[in-house]
Amino acid sequence: MSVRVAVTGPTGEIGLSTISALEGHPEVSEIVGMARRPFDPAEHGWTKTTYRQGDILDRDAVDALVADADVVVHLAFIIMGSREESARVNLAGTRNVFEATVAAARPRRLVYTSSVAAYGYHSDNPVPITEEVAPRGSPEHYYSEQKAACEATLAEVTAGSPLEVFILRPCIVAGPKATALADAMPWNQLPGPVRRISQALPLLKPPFPDPGTPLQLVHHDDVAAAIALAVTTRTAPPGAYNIAGDGVLSMSEVGDALGARPLKVPRAAAVATSELMTRLPFVPSSLEWLHAGRTSVVMDTAKARDLLGWQPKFTAAETLSALSSAVGA
Ligand SMILES: NC(=O)c1ccc[n+]([C@@H]2O[C@H](COP(=O)([O-])OP(=O)(O)OC[C@H]3O[C@@H](n4cnc5c(N)ncnc54)[C@H](OP(=O)(O)O)[C@@H]3O)[C@@H](O)[C@H]2O)c1
Repeated sequence: MSVRVAVTGPTGEIGLSTISALEGHPEVSEIVGMARRPFDPAEHGWTKTTYRQGDILDRDAVDALVADADVVVHLAFIIMGSREESARVNLAGTRNVFEATVAAARPRRLVYTSSVAAYGYHSDNPVPITEEVAPRGSPEHYYSEQKAACEATLAEVTAGSPLEVFILRPCIVAGPKATALADAMPWNQLPGPVRRISQALPLLKPPFPDPGTPLQLVHHDDVAAAIALAVTTRTAPPGAYNIAGDGVLSMSEVGDALGARPLKVPRAAAVATSELMTRLPFVPSSLEWLHAGRTSVVMDTAKARDLLGWQPKFTAAETLSALSSAVGA
């Protein structure tokens, strides 16, 4: 087999690891990546990959990207952004990628990275949650709402098409080359000297609330391996696959590893904060992430292991430790 792969968003945290995994796969002959920034694949020592600057909002650019591909991998997304900007790129841009892939003659498979957030933060979610549960999203959290909406668009656009559609739903991705979780912590946005002083004195460390919600993490290389499997598998059936490393972490463990002072708070406080926020007339998009802390959404990953043959190399704890070492927390 000789597979040509088109990838949107190859310059992102998951994208870089994904291209590395595809470069190393003997059945992948050619990779074409597209995102907006200037980028040179040769600087990474990659030999199968070419890159073009383009925006997924530009349908002509997307049509050209997917035209010669056997498999299209859609990663481009705005994760941290305003509700308005992210909606524009994520909903319209993702629809462009799905519609262009269905319309093109050559692609036979589409791999889309959705997210655990697509399930939404519902108190009646089963724990652990399996792929049989419908991705309902949570309207009060823009990212969750958009991830669920993109899955609905995917079902609508690909209905009746022969395209093999693989949907991966990773939990939070982290590791030395995926530091967004650490970067998003407010204290890591302080100027370097102030941050270092507060890190050196435990009492000055910022408090990090832990309402008892367990958290899953997955290493970027393990997500990349899952994407490479979805691109090349000849045995796994199309469909949705949960992706998470072994084990769960407490928010205290995460806060501690990333340089904060964990502070246990009642679960009811997280629920009350979330409920209050849904009633406020305006909530900054960055604060909408607090909704994610109110409910446990722990995924069952047996399907990815059994059918896709996915074997994560890193546990959640190992992933956190690798992230912590990389950011010097
Ligand atoms: N990171 C996580 O914890 C996580 C967890 C679960 C699922 N996911 C999903 O996995 C996918 C990849 O995430 P990531 O962590 O790699 O995100 P990321 O680091 O923020 O990268 C996003 C990528 O999308 C590209 N992009 C954004 N807007 C674009 C546009 N209009 N046109 C073309 N390219 C555009 C960016 O490149 P330019 O800026 O150069 O355009 C970049 O390559 C996303 O769908 C995300 O929702 C991520």
